[in-house]
Amino acid sequence: HRDLIGIGQLERHEILFLLDEAEQWVRLNRQASKHENLLSGLTVINAFFENSTRTLLSFEIAGKRLGADVVNMHAAQSSVKKGETLIDTAITLNAMHADAIVIRHGSSGATQLIADKVDCPVLNAGDGQHEHPTQALLDALALRHALRDRGEASEDFTGLKIVICGDILHSRVARSNLLCLHALGASVRLCAPPALMPAGIEAMGAEVYHDFDAALDGADVVMMLRLQTERMSGQFIPSAREYHHLYGLTKKRLAQAAEDALVMHPGPMNRGVEIDSEVADMIDRSIITRQVEMGVAIRMAALDVLTRRSRCVDGWGAAA
Ligand code: CP
Repeated sequence: HRDLIGIGQLERHEILFLLDEAEQWVRLNRQASKHENLLSGLTVINAFFENSTRTLLSFEIAGKRLGADVVNMHAAQSSVKKGETLIDTAITLNAMHADAIVIRHGSSGATQLIADKVDCPVLNAGDGQHEHPTQALLDALALRHALRDRGEASEDFTGLKIVICGDILHSRVARSNLLCLHALGASVRLCAPPALMPAGIEAMGAEVYHDFDAALDGADVVMMLRLQTERMSGQFIPSAREYHHLYGLTKKRLAQAAEDALVMHPGPMNRGVEIDSEVADMIDRSIITRQVEMGVAIRMAALDVLTRRSRCVDGWGAAA
């Protein structure tokens, strides 16, 4: 079977294929009746070892809209709390004959560890600081739709200057987005305080900035990330006020970007820290709620494509 562990494992044409597949689900999700039965009879297990609002709910909604039986395992109420290992948990889920397992875990590599132990496709819903592939795909789809609405549609993002600003060091969203946006032709500028920028990230094709105003100059898209204080140990943690002063996206700061620059945030937002409400809520510029909308469609596409082999349907998921 084929898994979705990271954007790093996808070819450019596979990224575009998943985005194209999601378009039918964007249309379905906008209808009054949103039900399909492609995955009827299949069981999807969402195993979340870390908190989530958007990812968990959208995977659950995606599976249900495709007709699957969806079961959520919350680690806080599971036998993980009684000392069961991740591998034993994986073997247990596998014995229940799941047809797809969606995992979120606090450790980088945990999703791959589970994928190596189970017989069905595994979808990474975020593993530590490693990757969050469906987030990057939904971000690309939201951006594609926003550009299309402005009549600027193109096959990819060639020529776009995209700033990702925030706690890059701890961000799986930044890593997946860098890989995805770079594969689709965009120039990606990463901006963070020096202590929150991973060493050597330039090798992944990013331009590195520590001065937010310089990074914003002429940018077409500004993606803001929160400080992941839950993953910080030993680093200098700036106060919310200091951080906002240097790296917060205000309306005044946004004026340094391109005239109609789009604003993105994967959520959850800390309003008044990395982004001001008057920017987050700009109707013509902020596509934050559109990102959430696209999350359901992308997860429907991923579940459909990855279960094609078990459904004996030809396609991307049937390969390998
Ligand atoms: N963007 C994102 O992963 O949000 P959740 O943590 O709420 O799932």
